[in-house]
Amino acid sequence: MLTDPFGRSIDYLRLSITDQCNLRCAYCLPAGHLPFAARSSRLTPGEIERLAACFVALGVRRVRLTGGEPLVREDLEEIVERLARAGVADLSLSTNGIGLARRAAGLRKAGLRRVNVSLDSLDPARFAELTRHGRLSDVLAGVEAALSAGLEPVKLNVVVVRGVNDGELAAFAELSRDRPFHVRFIELMPMGVSGFYAPERRVPLPEMRLKTGALEAAGDSRPEGGGPAAYYRLPGAVGTVGFIAALSCSFCAGCNRMRLTSRGVLVPCLDGEEGLDLAALVRGGASPDEVRDLIVSAVGAKPAAHAMLGRSEGGGRTMCHVGG
Ligand code: 5AD
Ligand code: SF4
Repeated sequence: MLTDPFGRSIDYLRLSITDQCNLRCAYCLPAGHLPFAARSSRLTPGEIERLAACFVALGVRRVRLTGGEPLVREDLEEIVERLARAGVADLSLSTNGIGLARRAAGLRKAGLRRVNVSLDSLDPARFAELTRHGRLSDVLAGVEAALSAGLEPVKLNVVVVRGVNDGELAAFAELSRDRPFHVRFIELMPMGVSGFYAPERRVPLPEMRLKTGALEAAGDSRPEGGGPAAYYRLPGAVGTVGFIAALSCSFCAGCNRMRLTSRGVLVPCLDGEEGLDLAALVRGGASPDEVRDLIVSAVGAKPAAHAMLGRSEGGGRTMCHVGG
């Protein structure tokens, strides 16, 4: 089992498999964003499988595929199949849901267990504006297909932005009343170079809770996952409402994760610019021992906490590289 210098057990890898995305969410990709990486630079399914085997050997049991948008990779099903084969027990996907309707059943069959879908507005016009052309109905169809395919629990990620969707929290919470959705409200973070972040756009946790309305303890409804969300539910609801207070300090206390960027760099923290080039090592024909040594070094470099509070964006990696 991997343990970091602060005594936290690290058993979770977030694996960004592309920086490309078919949407342009204002807080993530600015209009004139950095060019996407060449397709040839991304890790192949075989390389991903070899890497995953090393993580699994070190006790990593959870892997989440992120992007960019993982569904833009046409070989996603093969990647899932190989990760399942490498012994990843809890295999999940973070997606914007575009195109998920067509692929949910196949992904389930390949060995995917569950999905998180980003969904920042329930209003079609607002959704289109925020994502610069996304169709809300495509995402909703994807969410339904995920449920039908048994990709559960289905979590819906809502990044809360003042003046954009902060009037929709109660409506989002309603989605969880009669159906097994786990709606999670996420504090906006200063990531990369989108030029979108400003402290006044962030809605801090106490205010998010107020805007959501009355909630009770989640009890047995709490979904599996092991992440930093605190879960509640509408009285008597089937699903839950979670809060991810990314900028409040306790967020990092239970950190259990590493991230591999779309460029193949293993990074100790969501924040910061450090990292170790795992892709180069694998492509250079390194042995599993050498790969495992690098993973152990990266875990040893984990900071106690991020330093995003009080900072504006620009200091770290862009979300489309690090994958959230
Ligand atoms: N702050 C908070 N959440 C973000 N995400 C992307 N950029 C940010 C940001 N700046 C979210 C996405 C997705 C998850 C992977 O991270 O909406 O749900
Ligand atoms: Fe862990 Fe860094 Fe995330 Fe905090 S911000 S939870 S230390 S990865």
